[in-house]
Amino acid sequence: MNFALAAAIPGWHHPGMTTNGLAPRSLAVDLLQGVLRRGKALDQLLAGSRDFSQLAARDRAFCRNLVATALRRLGQIDAIIDTCLERPLNPRSAPTLDILRLGVAQLLFTNVPAHAAVDTAVDLVRAARAGHLTKLVNAVLRRVQREGRAMLDGQDAARLNTPAWLWRSWEDAFGPDLCRQIALAHLAPAPLDVTLKRGLDREAWAATLGARPVGAASLRLFDPGPVADLPGYAAGAWWVQDAAATLPVDLLGDVAGSTVLDLCAAPGGKTAQLADRGACVTALDRSAPRMTRLRENLARLDLAAETVVAKAEDWQPVGPFDAVLLDVPCSATGTIRRHPDLPHLKRADDLAKLSAAQARLLDRAADWLRPGGTLVYATCSLQSEEGPHQIARFLARRPDFAQAPAPALTPGLEDLIDDRGSLRSLPSHLSGIGGMDGFFAARLIREA
Ligand SMILES: C[S@@+](CC[C@H](N)C(=O)[O-])C[C@H]1O[C@@H](n2cnc3c(N)ncnc32)[C@H](O)[C@@H]1O
Repeated sequence: MNFALAAAIPGWHHPGMTTNGLAPRSLAVDLLQGVLRRGKALDQLLAGSRDFSQLAARDRAFCRNLVATALRRLGQIDAIIDTCLERPLNPRSAPTLDILRLGVAQLLFTNVPAHAAVDTAVDLVRAARAGHLTKLVNAVLRRVQREGRAMLDGQDAARLNTPAWLWRSWEDAFGPDLCRQIALAHLAPAPLDVTLKRGLDREAWAATLGARPVGAASLRLFDPGPVADLPGYAAGAWWVQDAAATLPVDLLGDVAGSTVLDLCAAPGGKTAQLADRGACVTALDRSAPRMTRLRENLARLDLAAETVVAKAEDWQPVGPFDAVLLDVPCSATGTIRRHPDLPHLKRADDLAKLSAAQARLLDRAADWLRPGGTLVYATCSLQSEEGPHQIARFLARRPDFAQAPAPALTPGLEDLIDDRGSLRSLPSHLSGIGGMDGFFAARLIREA
């Protein structure tokens, strides 16, 4: 499993780096500390790091993948370190612990040569002015090199890498089998899915991109390299969007010629779908930088939408819409494959605040819909509070709304519609071909 996984991760094939290998590893330590000790999102840290942008392309890939792997496997890595240490490291030695974690990640989950993993870890400990710990780090990593694979065999990877509160919540919501399958799906990084513009020949584009068709309009790429270098990016033939993220728009049905409010729209995957299907779209989001990305994406794709930068709470439309798509801000636990930092950043008590904000947005969206119109509520969360419970509470306070079953999805995805007609995708769906993000969506109709 480990070598198979390593082979699937871009960057791991090139452990011989343009530097002596210390620069990307040293930055990896800073990034791991940024996530685990300062609570920052990995993507934000990467976007704001000059050191990262100045690395050679393959060092960047190596650094990012090293941190992502350490975060994805942190529970297993820490259990192994615990076994190898007589007593835990002093909290003041946090950088040394993070260097050890990255060393173990390289030894057990990549094909980096063992001597490179161990020697660079020892160099980093010395550079962190913890020279008194070099012997210890060397001894631990040598033992992991010898015994680590046997230790892995005895571990329950799904359980160890999942925080207890998330495990409990998925067991409650989906039962023990699906809970385990979800956690197992998180052990591998996600492939890259793109949505092809309507009217283009999917077979031909699949061949051009070396991709596999998934769902109704997605193409799936494995180990694709930089997105902007791929054929069709500059020409605006497609946009990046997980196959599951395309499904909430399908719940709106035919939108051609309809006025649609895309509330919480940025960076705009669903806005592009709506515009591509001929809707007259108003896209609103509170984040100006994310809306800049949305406008750039639409321009590249030669698609049009009216764009508004505003908080939904402070905005008022001129008249009601035929349809509203509300893709709420959420815990994003359906995207852990892409964001392995999430389980280390989110806490159970974040959910109450998120769910209250979602309810406020839902009430506002409901008022902006014409009688007889369709509101689709969507979230990339696996948590019941943000999905079915949110909809049950909404329907209890808004008797002028009823849930309608989702329209039939593409063959092969029918199982994603539950008994109530809601969409529920899980990371473990399509597991034979790379999985999909976890999404929940409900189609709500306002009384005519
Ligand atoms: C899940 S993301 C939307 C993803 C987007 N629909 C897509 O498909 O690309 C949630 C968005 O909600 C926005 N947001 C959060 N609170 C908001 C509010 N009160 N008013 C407007 N936008 C908000 C965030 O800036 C973020 O871009």
